Amino acid sequence: MRQFHHEQPVAGPPGPRLRAVLDEIDRTGSYRHTRAELTYGAKLAWRNAARCIGRLYWRSLLVRDLRHLASADDIAAECFEHLRLAGNGGRIRPVVSVFAPDRPDRPAARILNQQLVRYAGHRVGGEFVGDPAGAALTARARDLGWKCAEDRFEVLPLLIQERPDGPPARYELPDDTTLEVPLLHPDHDWFAELGLRWYAVPAISDLTLEIGGVRYPTAPFNGWYMGTEIGARNLADADRYDMLGTVAERLGLDTSGHRTLWRDRALIELNLAVLHSFQQAGVTIADHHTESERFLRHVAQEKRLGRPTPADWSWIVPPVSGGLTPVYHRYYDPVDPALRPAFVPREAW
Ligand code: ARG
Repeated sequence: MRQFHHEQPVAGPPGPRLRAVLDEIDRTGSYRHTRAELTYGAKLAWRNAARCIGRLYWRSLLVRDLRHLASADDIAAECFEHLRLAGNGGRIRPVVSVFAPDRPDRPAARILNQQLVRYAGHRVGGEFVGDPAGAALTARARDLGWKCAEDRFEVLPLLIQERPDGPPARYELPDDTTLEVPLLHPDHDWFAELGLRWYAVPAISDLTLEIGGVRYPTAPFNGWYMGTEIGARNLADADRYDMLGTVAERLGLDTSGHRTLWRDRALIELNLAVLHSFQQAGVTIADHHTESERFLRHVAQEKRLGRPTPADWSWIVPPVSGGLTPVYHRYYDPVDPALRPAFVPREAW
């Protein structure tokens, strides 16, 4: 509360509001944020996110105040609207949708998905199809009667649980919510035949937004993608889509040993395809060079305002060409896990 009043001087001195909040807590066991407190708190949670390289734009976050909604049906409908607003026809906008918080007498509903859009992953015959990162949710959805196609890029339904003792409800994402980009390579026509694609809006849905002691476990948020998240991790990691062998083979690389750097060469072409395809499709994506420069501008700007920028080096440095980016060549202010507001791992029910 003090930080809010300090950084937002139009709100006046914190004293009267602090007394009102303490009084409300005495009477009800909790308190309600004003809309301005919620909005600024959510932006601060982004600014405080030590793993995020994209924080330069923290002020531009669109905060949707949906605290009056607590039912699974309403949450699902507004998650769909979130994806439409965030996707914005390809000009991705950072958005957070804040649903009803935990109350002392009643925990809030939870979205079980890690992200609003994610691909299913499951065994078909002897072979794994899809995204291993989606395997647990796929199993859960199938237990609830979901019919899973045998596609490598099948969008998972939302599973939303209203209360700890009840079963989750299942919601199929409408087509107009999930913008996707088929992957092409600027120089290699065969690349399209690999049938790779990725979705446009990375919307994290399994973190709790904590502001001033109030916990919002249902507060999905998104930014735009940096290409390496898709090209160097989701499609490349051995425990994800594991595509480097296939790409190297199509490139005709010598894969007989590490020293031919075939993995590295395939990785660069895959990342180029991701950036090229999103750009062609008119969908916002950042390359790691640009996003690194922006991050250091953010650090410098915060420093001029007398504020530290806690950052986790191992998350900030991109997973390809680390040393080519300026974020590699320095250290950052230490991370305090108790810093709030923050997006924090969700407690079990
Ligand atoms: N790395 C995650 C993914 O590939 C998304 C994390 C959030 N990323 C972002 N650009 N806001 O799905």
